[in-house]
Amino acid sequence: MMDTTCHIAGIAFRNPIVMASGTFGFGHEYNRFYPLDRIGGFSGKGLTLHPKSGNEGLRSWETAAGMLNSVGLENPGIPAFLSTEAERWENYDVVRILNLGGSSLEDYERGAALIEEDYKHRQQRGKKAVDMIELNISCPNVKAGGMAYGIQTETARTVVGLVRKATTLPLIVKLSPNAEDIVSMALMCEEEGAEAVSLVNTFSAMKIDIYKRRSVFENSYAGLSGPAIKPIALRMVHQVCQSVHIPVMGLGGISSAEDILEFIMAGAEVVQVGTHNFVDLRAGENLSRDLENLMRQLGISSLKEIRGIV
Ligand SMILES: Cc1cc2nc3c(=O)[nH]c(=O)nc-3n(C[C@H](O)[C@H](O)[C@H](O)COP(=O)(O)O)c2cc1C
Repeated sequence: MMDTTCHIAGIAFRNPIVMASGTFGFGHEYNRFYPLDRIGGFSGKGLTLHPKSGNEGLRSWETAAGMLNSVGLENPGIPAFLSTEAERWENYDVVRILNLGGSSLEDYERGAALIEEDYKHRQQRGKKAVDMIELNISCPNVKAGGMAYGIQTETARTVVGLVRKATTLPLIVKLSPNAEDIVSMALMCEEEGAEAVSLVNTFSAMKIDIYKRRSVFENSYAGLSGPAIKPIALRMVHQVCQSVHIPVMGLGGISSAEDILEFIMAGAEVVQVGTHNFVDLRAGENLSRDLENLMRQLGISSLKEIRGIV
């Protein structure tokens, strides 16, 4: 009998495969291709307090081994999500993670407070739509100085602390690979009471159109994801797993069962799969089957046997 279950903050994941924010819509889009109970969980598209229409111009570009994106957190806003999509989330038999973004401290705090209020209301009716919050400090800007929240540890501490106080839901903080020091960032999240960290988000990167003599993106730079980032993401996940005591969700370029086992051997409790969802619309179903086959082939009966072995 094979055991693929994983746990974060007392919440059980059927298997370690969690679909990454921004690559899995709000879940129902992929439910058409395979039943969501094949995966361990998913993180919905990043939500902000107010609706966002996203960036102007080109939003994605395929690279030799991955993609660049400049979506700019397009989303319907937290209130719209809670009054529509969340109803559907109540019926899903997977771990449901709400990815929270923001562009100011007030937005993050008020957003988290709204989610908490909704959580309490549903609880009174014996219902639940969200199991965890994944706090995305990896892309927006702070009002003061325009410094990205996820780059400097002490700036990030303020937002993690505020969100921690605003919600009783388990909190995962999603880290940027562009952080000055990813290990001290993860340690800070642990100190501030986060139940887990997820890493990595996209790497700041660029594509130039040599004919137009300009970047293809309005904002000059975009986020790189996919197989190209996997070895670097794996190294960062390994470093963080060596340092923190809270569980780690590892991601970056995962596209096979072999990739999943690498992240687990580096110490990750679960993994997330992002860009690969665009390559294979049935990635969740296929990866979960491939993972079980690979475990059988390698004589691994439980992920616990190999977690953090390297
Ligand atoms: C099109 C696109 C949109 C994304 N949107 C979000 C988002 O809203 N919130 C977030 O935390 N991460 C977002 N990400 C980052 C992914 O969740 C993931 O961290 C990153 O792509 C690295 O994983 P991968 O190489 O498996 O894609 C987005 C990535 C892509 C490609």
